[in-house]
Amino acid sequence: MKIQIITLFPGMFEGVLGSSMLWKASDRDIVSYEFINLRDFGLGPRKQVDDNPYGGGDGMLLNPEPLIAAIELAKKNDPEAVVILPTPRGETYKQSEAKELATTNKGLILICPRYEGYDERITDWVDRQYSIGNYVLTGGELPAMVIIDSVVRLLPGVLGGETSTEIESFQNDDENIEFPQYTRPEDFQGMKVPEVLLNGHHAEIEKWRKSHSHKAE
Ligand code: ADE
Repeated sequence: MKIQIITLFPGMFEGVLGSSMLWKASDRDIVSYEFINLRDFGLGPRKQVDDNPYGGGDGMLLNPEPLIAAIELAKKNDPEAVVILPTPRGETYKQSEAKELATTNKGLILICPRYEGYDERITDWVDRQYSIGNYVLTGGELPAMVIIDSVVRLLPGVLGGETSTEIESFQNDDENIEFPQYTRPEDFQGMKVPEVLLNGHHAEIEKWRKSHSHKAE
């Protein structure tokens, strides 16, 4: 899967994409991460990418020309790719979306807006608009990383255990929240691992896990 990221701050991704499973996925050629620096498409000698909003108001908005030029380059690289815009105004991003993106066999193009936002006309070039929660971040980079992480871990060959992605949390969005788990020691400061998990009785363990799969209060 080719993942193209349009951003003014590619450095923000280094630690996340360069570590652990996201790094392994690219090392195993399951994904490739490619950056398109929006600044390269900036206007004029100062490579400007933003301007004041019509109608007044605080902050700057991304101009359409540089952003659309960047999206068009990404589309030229991968014509079938799904163009994703993280925005607090988008549909709430859920596990079902991650699963869908992981199984479409299409590349992803993630746009990372900055400043106070973007010119609304760019949404004509976008396939999906997602919010990762009801709070406002300083840009689209963190939501883009959240989306990438949630998709890449579902790609075949990325996680070790074949069943681990099947049984875990949010498999069907809000249903089947993951059950609590324990490892050594059996007794930690007087807090004991539930007896049922120690007796090796598979059916009882399954029953216990089902009955304890609920959201934290
Ligand atoms: N950009 C800023 N805040 C965001 C959020 N909560 N979700 C997606 N994109 C955003």
